[in-house]
Amino acid sequence: MKKIAILTSGGDSPGMNAAIRAAGKYALSQGLIVYGVQRGYSGMLNNDIFLMDDCFLSGIVDKGGTKLLTARCLEFLEPEFRAIAAQNMIKKGIEGLIVIGGDGSYRGADLLSKEHGIHVVGIPGTIDNDIIGTDYTIGFDTCLNTILDAISKIRDTATSHERTILIEVMGHNSGDLALYSCLAGGGDGLLIPEMKNPIEMLALQIKGRRKIGKLHDIILVAEGVGSVHEIEKKLASLLGAEVRSVVLGHVQRGGTPSGFDRVLATRMAVKSVDILLQNSGSVMVGIEGNRIITHPISFAWEGKKTSSIYEDFEITNILSK
Ligand code: F6P
Repeated sequence: MKKIAILTSGGDSPGMNAAIRAAGKYALSQGLIVYGVQRGYSGMLNNDIFLMDDCFLSGIVDKGGTKLLTARCLEFLEPEFRAIAAQNMIKKGIEGLIVIGGDGSYRGADLLSKEHGIHVVGIPGTIDNDIIGTDYTIGFDTCLNTILDAISKIRDTATSHERTILIEVMGHNSGDLALYSCLAGGGDGLLIPEMKNPIEMLALQIKGRRKIGKLHDIILVAEGVGSVHEIEKKLASLLGAEVRSVVLGHVQRGGTPSGFDRVLATRMAVKSVDILLQNSGSVMVGIEGNRIITHPISFAWEGKKTSSIYEDFEITNILSK
């Protein structure tokens, strides 16, 4: 393999730039010619494919977002558009592709490989931590810390006003961001899609806390559970008290990547280039037990997620009494 390309796709996440930097610099050090694709698959389709040099890759390890830009490309779901995109790569002699993104982006990569013989490697880049086959995704840790900072600030005002405040966090259909934030931020209640916790139960839990003299309640709500504003109304009427809700929103996707995310991104990126150098592909890289591992790329939608979500949920219940 002589020429490879790198793209970022889907929602951006802090640490994507560290992955681009490491993959690009390491590939150059191995004598490969390295292209960047702008705006994910949409750029591949529009031939926004350019040669990346060391200068492009420098000074970005600590920057949030993605220097390659990102997009969600619906056209890529259609085979005829994939064929045009693949031809743009093949005409340049590009044989290998590193895709930094979520499992939706992996599906596109898998089809590129099956239909057009391009070797593909998926690097899990999303704040959601919702990819099967890796303990952590790039950006999750930074996002978690952004949420923890917000929790501390919101707790100050919640205590002063003796209020219950719901904090909605991102995660798509995954409750990991809410769960970890609750564990690390001392949350007093948790609503995540993976576990049933009726609002009536939450109200009882809050009433119990108030009885023993607690002055406030911070409740973490994963966006996958439903509208936080509806939950706010229902909870307020069950409690007969004021409730406020905060949607943290896109502030969670930005910011300087944490050291953990930068190291994770770097290790995964180097592994991805090694895979392409062996003319191998159709794999995703991940981290399991602090080791960088690989799975077939389809593991991301065919495999089974191993996590301690049930135990962790139970811990949040016990600690939030
Ligand atoms: O997948 C990352 C993510 O940030 C999710 O947590 C969230 O549901 C979604 O993207 C938001 O997407 P957009 O920026 O397109 O509104």
